[in-house]
Amino acid sequence: RTEPSQQQTGRTAAHDSAFLRACRREPVPHTPVWFMRQAGRSLPEYRKVREGIPMLESCMRPDLVTEITLQPVRRHNVDAAIFFSDIVVPLKAIGIDLDIKPGVGPVVAQPIRTRADLDRLRPLDPSDVPYVTEAIGLLTAELGATPLIGFAGAPFTLASYLVEGGPSRNHEHTKALMYGDPELWADLLDRLADITAAFLKIQIEAGASAVQLFDSWVGALAPADYRRSVMPASTKVFDAVAGHGVPRIHFGVGTGELLGLMGEAGADVVGVDWRIPMDEAVRRVGPGKALQGNLDPAVLFAGREAVETKAQEVLDAAADLPGHIFNLGHGVLPSTDPDALTRLVEYVHEHTAR
Ligand code: CP3
Repeated sequence: RTEPSQQQTGRTAAHDSAFLRACRREPVPHTPVWFMRQAGRSLPEYRKVREGIPMLESCMRPDLVTEITLQPVRRHNVDAAIFFSDIVVPLKAIGIDLDIKPGVGPVVAQPIRTRADLDRLRPLDPSDVPYVTEAIGLLTAELGATPLIGFAGAPFTLASYLVEGGPSRNHEHTKALMYGDPELWADLLDRLADITAAFLKIQIEAGASAVQLFDSWVGALAPADYRRSVMPASTKVFDAVAGHGVPRIHFGVGTGELLGLMGEAGADVVGVDWRIPMDEAVRRVGPGKALQGNLDPAVLFAGREAVETKAQEVLDAAADLPGHIFNLGHGVLPSTDPDALTRLVEYVHEHTAR
């Protein structure tokens, strides 16, 4: 083709955005800001368009996905959009019987715990998720110079939902498999790595400018177990999407002790929760990586002055870092006042303008 594709045009337009420059650790006009779960229940316009439509169904409708993804960009002036979907969408797409229950999370009808169960995890093909490709095409056309972040669940976090059958506090079935049958565990994670890599590639090929791998629950592991039992699968995912020129972000909750390894797994940007300060995170991650984080999402309930004080603490702790992306330490809580988010974006932009 001689004409640049729409996808290439989208990425070219976003190439010099503050967000992508920060991912590459280049100088920025201001510290870029976006929020995990910026689309969702904190926004009245989200609750309105979602009325009567189940979560998973909404992820399969390109018109809705496009509208919901754009809502926080319009309202908050954030520096990036994140594709509206869920980490379990590719699993649903290959035929796993699961649902997202409001107020609960993903629930899997038949948990995966034996070797025979592994056969249910077939590879993901682009034709399984045509609505993803279509929605990203619509989005990159609308977003112009605002980058779109694609994402997927990391093998450990997906395994946790599949093995437990739903959300879990202690991940006991998951850990029983990991400690008790390392070979089956490795095969399970390897299959999930292939599905995850395929899901990210589909998003990149459709026009996503960056990708984030969510290993939300991996903070439940000790570093030695992470290195032995999880890191090979996460590395496989990062390696599979290297070479597209698209920054790779890696995030988990309670991962203070794992930050170095999560960078080593192949991320360009490491996400940090609120439990350690950004300057300490810089030391733990080591040189050469950008960092994303890390305001406690609950701070947004404390009033404007407290929000600004705590946001400034984050900015100060990251001041010497080339490549800071301001974010929360985890997702926006559903009852957050959206105006507090809009004001926070404004605060970070104003107080970091170079
Ligand atoms: O704005 C964004 O960040 C993009 C959208 C997004 C959703 N899920 C939409 C969603 C993203 C990036 C995710 C990822 C996701 N899903 C993760 C990793 C991020 C994290 O929070 O650690 C995890 C662990 C899941 C699994 C999941 N899906 C949970 C725990 C829940 C919440 C259940 C509930 O009702 O409290 C979901 C459902 C979900 N995914 C919602 C949204 C907006 C809420 C559903 C609704 O609005 O009815």
